[in-house]
Amino acid sequence: MKYKIKEKSSIQGEIKISGSKNATLPLISAALLTKEKVMLYNVPLISDVLNMIRILDSLGIFVSYQYQHQILTIQAKHMKKKVLSAYVGKLRASYYLMGALATRKKTFQICYPGGCNLGQRPINLHLDAFHAYGIKYEEDEEGLHFKTTKRQNTEIHFPVVSVGATINAILVGVKTLGVTHLTNVAIEPEVIDVIECLNQMGANIRFLEERSIEIQGVKKLHGVTYSVMFDRIEAGSYLLLASSLPESKLTLQGVDSTKMASVLEVLSQMGNQFQTIDKAITIVSPKELSNVCVTTGPYPMFPTDLQPQLTTVLLRGMEKSTIIEGIYTKRFSHVEELKKLGARLDKEENQLEIYPSVLHGGDLNVHDLRCGFALIIASVMSKENCTIDQVEYILRGYEDITDKLKKIGIEFVKLS
Ligand code: EPU
Repeated sequence: MKYKIKEKSSIQGEIKISGSKNATLPLISAALLTKEKVMLYNVPLISDVLNMIRILDSLGIFVSYQYQHQILTIQAKHMKKKVLSAYVGKLRASYYLMGALATRKKTFQICYPGGCNLGQRPINLHLDAFHAYGIKYEEDEEGLHFKTTKRQNTEIHFPVVSVGATINAILVGVKTLGVTHLTNVAIEPEVIDVIECLNQMGANIRFLEERSIEIQGVKKLHGVTYSVMFDRIEAGSYLLLASSLPESKLTLQGVDSTKMASVLEVLSQMGNQFQTIDKAITIVSPKELSNVCVTTGPYPMFPTDLQPQLTTVLLRGMEKSTIIEGIYTKRFSHVEELKKLGARLDKEENQLEIYPSVLHGGDLNVHDLRCGFALIIASVMSKENCTIDQVEYILRGYEDITDKLKKIGIEFVKLS
């Protein structure tokens, strides 16, 4: 899918931020821990969610998505034990099905999860956690084959902070009898959202210290109606878009700014100003943008999922900025694309130096979801029109992007 986009001089308007992709996907798996009905509200219409629904459907699970109202109803009375749908390979979050199936089936099989190409993305921490619970697995060309005789409560210390492995360990722990301790866990707001929902379903999960969780296993979970948190990465992407042009004014509705402290701090250092009223945040961008030095890392640090977008905006800085990518050392697919437009960027290993640049037009290719939004920002900043190919990646995680951009004066027009 190829789109064209026109340069702009400033951005004005208001949009509503959608439900979080990275909370919705594990919440869908959490819904499989009970045979009762789970209703999720604020579920975004994005292709990662649709693919997850297709996988559930292939497992014989009842699933109904009223996308006009963003309500997803799931009832997993029964489910098959072979997850062989081709959609598993289309998104990384399909790994959450492992955690859910491990609590429902003594044996099951699943093919390898996919996802954005951000360099090597192993699942060893997930598999080590399953192993600690007594879940054995074997691998072959078809995927992973799991077998459990008896799950046991355990203690897991994660050597690396991992969102996915933390959530998978929680999914298994909630229905494993006895007390399980997890340490060095991820504390991203999306992890907290999943914990909140599971506790409402009857789980008993609590924080002992900041990165330490205790789970008292329960026999049964019940159904729930739960509203998914807002997408802080979508919100951050639009705030960065607004700051890419001088004297823009953009209001985002449906945002809890307390969950975006590191992002707002960096945007403030760049000279942006904010006003927050209830769940609305308004950004006013500066005429001249200040340089920053940012390292991405686990929450509460600056998120890696906003690094490509931040890199792009900093091209309009007055001086050189530096970004160190602390999570995915190969998440730089945007760099070569930005250079096509005249961006001056120097990359050494996981460190990027960003120099003030004037961007011209060009034909761009998206390589992953966040790279895609970065290229939208670059096109808006450039002095000529741009085309963007492989927009499919962007549709994986940004709901209603064409309409939202239109609302703030940006024409993102489909060519093919
Ligand atoms: N890691 C391992 N082994 C593992 C798992 C992770 O070495 O088994 C490493 C990774 O390679 C990475 C680090 O641990 O260097 C952290 O990765 P993490 O496990 O936290 O990533 P994830 O859970 O697979 C989620 C989001 C990503 C987001 C990261 C970091 C979902 C579906 N994905 O991935 O989102 O970048 O956390 O916050 O929640 C995106 O939305 O664009 C996206 C890539």
